[in-house]
This record gives sequence, C-alpha cells and structure tokens, in this order.
Amino acid sequence: MTLRVALGADHGGFSLKAELSSWLKEQGYEVLDLGAYALDPADDYPDFAAAVARAVAAGEAQRGIIICGSGVGACIVANKLAGVRAGLCHDTYSARQGVEHDDINVLCLGARIIGVELAKELVSAFLNARFSGAERHRRRLQKVLAIESKGLEGQGTKGDES
Ligand code: RB5
Repeated sequence: MTLRVALGADHGGFSLKAELSSWLKEQGYEVLDLGAYALDPADDYPDFAAAVARAVAAGEAQRGIIICGSGVGACIVANKLAGVRAGLCHDTYSARQGVEHDDINVLCLGARIIGVELAKELVSAFLNARFSGAERHRRRLQKVLAIESKGLEGQGTKGDES
C-alpha cells in the first residue's frame, strides 16, 4: 500500500514544503497537500497544522508533516487533536525513535532551523520507522491515550524500564 502523507505549512515553511512535496512524490509517496498554496506572510500556522492533524486523525493520511518557522507552533496545534501524536524532531534519532517508541504520526519541522537535506533525512527516518509494538511501548501508549481521553485522571503509575 502506498503511504499517504499529509503536508501543511504556513509562510515560514512554505518553500520547504514545496521541496519536500516534490521529493516525496519522487520517492513514491502519495502526497495530500493541505496548503498553504501560495506564499502569504500574513497566514497563520494553526490553520495548516489543524488541517494536517485532522487528516491524520480521520485516517485520510497515515502520516503528517507540518512545517512552520520553528516547528513549535505546528506541534502545539497538532497535539490538541485526539488521535494525533506529533513530535518536533530536528535529529534523526528522535524522528525514528518517536515512531518506534511513542507511535508519533505527525512530524513537525522548523524551516528556519534546518536545511532541505536534513529535512529529507528526518522525513525518511520518520516515514521508514514503525511502532515497535513492544509491551512497554504499548503500555506507555495506553497511558497517553488514557490521559488524552480522561485528562489527568487517566494517568497511570511510573515504570522503570527504558
Ligand atoms: C511565523 O512567523 C512563525 O511564528 C511560525 O511559522 C512558527 O515559527 C510558529 O511556531
């Protein structure tokens, strides 16, 4: 099955989104581009971050990538939606391990922080990784999901494994 990747960016990430979109298509991914479709210095990152997060939460895309200037705003917005686990990763270890251990389904990038080639490496690490399914990772994910659905009443106990 071809992986469908939702992409979104505000003006801060606009040109990096265009570069990643073409590159992802060359790599054989299906790209769902949720804007911005034109460079508008007055646009707002929550609009595009929410569009990508909704697409991932609704299953319209298996993974999402959101780009803003720093990646911070994108990550804040994406993590507001149930079913979305977004990570701001500017190193390949986190981009891969965020999926393997934490089951992130959205990668946030800051186009004012990293260059195109590192962005491609990060995206590759993110898209090629799979959730490990290990018992401790599933247990922690269940705790995250309980907090998501019940607030801090859903908080469980501490574990001591890595
Ligand atoms: C836009 O100038 C900038 O604030 C935004 O792209 C992002 O960095 C927010 O986190």
